[in-house]
Amino acid sequence: MAVERTLSIIKPDATRRNLTGKINAVFEDNGLRIVAQKRIQLTPATAGAFYEVHKERPFYNDLVSFMVSGPVVVQVLEGENAVLKNREVMGATDPKKAEANTIRAQFAESIEANSVHGSDSLENAKNEIAFFFAGTEILP
Ligand code: PPS
Repeated sequence: MAVERTLSIIKPDATRRNLTGKINAVFEDNGLRIVAQKRIQLTPATAGAFYEVHKERPFYNDLVSFMVSGPVVVQVLEGENAVLKNREVMGATDPKKAEANTIRAQFAESIEANSVHGSDSLENAKNEIAFFFAGTEILP
């Protein structure tokens, strides 16, 4: 199996409820190493650009508004098969459909306030990591 990196975002619903440490523990307990991390406030322009791929979807404006509603923690996770592993650990987008013990099953409030984002492919992971981090900020 290949060692990969993926982008994770701990969303405003989770930072508001002081869940960063609990979510990070789930990553670490599942073999994902946090090799970069920063707590930032997204602007509408930055969130809009990050979610550009969804701009035709009906929830786009709500999603951007939600993502600027409080601080987020952007992070790079590293590990074997990290992209898929993180998607498994996160659980389904809709917490009602997420498997037990996943982050979203444990912590998410709704399909919008669903606590975490994770890249959905290796190619997107590379682009999303570069969106938020300089190479010098990633320390294995
Ligand atoms: S995914 O992860 O891309 O397969 O999921 P998808 O269902 O395509 O959703 C893409 C992102 O949009 C968010 N989302 C929503 N936000 C607000 N309202 C509604 N109804 C809604 N449905 C989906 C979802 O949380 C995904 O956000 P990210 O940050 O990519 O996980």
